[in-house]
Amino acid sequence: MASPTFASGDICLIVDSKSRRYLVKLDVSGQFTTHQGTIPHTQLIGALHGAMFETPSGGRFIALPPKLADYILKMKRGAQIVYPKDIGPILVYADIAPGSSVLEAGTGSGALTMALVRAVGPTGTVVSVDRRADHAAQAQKAIERFFGELPPNLRLEVGDVEDVVAEVKPDRLILDLPEPWHAAAIAAEHLQSGGVFCSYVPTVPQMEQTVTALKAAHTFTDILNFESLIRTWNVEGRSVRPDHQMVGHTGFITVARRVQRWESRTDRNEEE
Ligand SMILES: C[S@@+](CC[C@H](N)C(=O)[O-])C[C@H]1O[C@@H](n2cnc3c(N)ncnc32)[C@H](O)[C@@H]1O
Repeated sequence: MASPTFASGDICLIVDSKSRRYLVKLDVSGQFTTHQGTIPHTQLIGALHGAMFETPSGGRFIALPPKLADYILKMKRGAQIVYPKDIGPILVYADIAPGSSVLEAGTGSGALTMALVRAVGPTGTVVSVDRRADHAAQAQKAIERFFGELPPNLRLEVGDVEDVVAEVKPDRLILDLPEPWHAAAIAAEHLQSGGVFCSYVPTVPQMEQTVTALKAAHTFTDILNFESLIRTWNVEGRSVRPDHQMVGHTGFITVARRVQRWESRTDRNEEE
């Protein structure tokens, strides 16, 4: 099989010799310019993925198709994104798989949406809701830019997640919004039995309130709360050590399984 090459309209990640990264959309009339010189897009179009370029002034660059993580970190944002370090655990712990039916809110900048769309594959569906039309529009642009079109397995909606849970009846509910506990009560009714609830919040009181709501619904079990910390390492000659800087905090992830409603002994005693 021939190695893939760039075409006009592709998104290209250009990495310079100091690992600085630039995202460009290739266009026959475009050119990429930095202080290290200029590369006309026509030189990149038709070039191999991973090809190396040198400008007349000696600047060296590598052109690659961006990984989703590269794209997310460089794309235009309306709302704060879920960072790649948290997207991975969300996909795994919320068990997003080919064929899943996912309801996501809020869409925000669309970072998590893109990962969900890829994970559910062509046999799955993602409905992503945001109450702000400007965020939904910004996300749609970013998603179309990455995939080249709006993926057929994605539906973007403007509205409140609480108003669509009953219609979608998802098997995975993924919430990155300030008050997930409101949706927890509704998910108790309309998330499919055996399905997964997942929320992502930046503060401890938000996580606590979410877990309290999940427990009060008596239809959730297997509640897991965690955060993910990634420490990158420098490996250069004898300097093998953790990097000096790391992202200390982003958000807390809560995952729970929806099960059949049960009554606790205390509930029964209260009713008697
Ligand atoms: C932090 S952003 C989501 C970022 C997104 N996960 C990403 O990775 O790009 C939170 C979004 O939730 C939306 N939002 C807040 N409450 C909502 C609700 N009840 N229903 C739908 N969207 C909501 C906000 O408008 C905002 O765009």
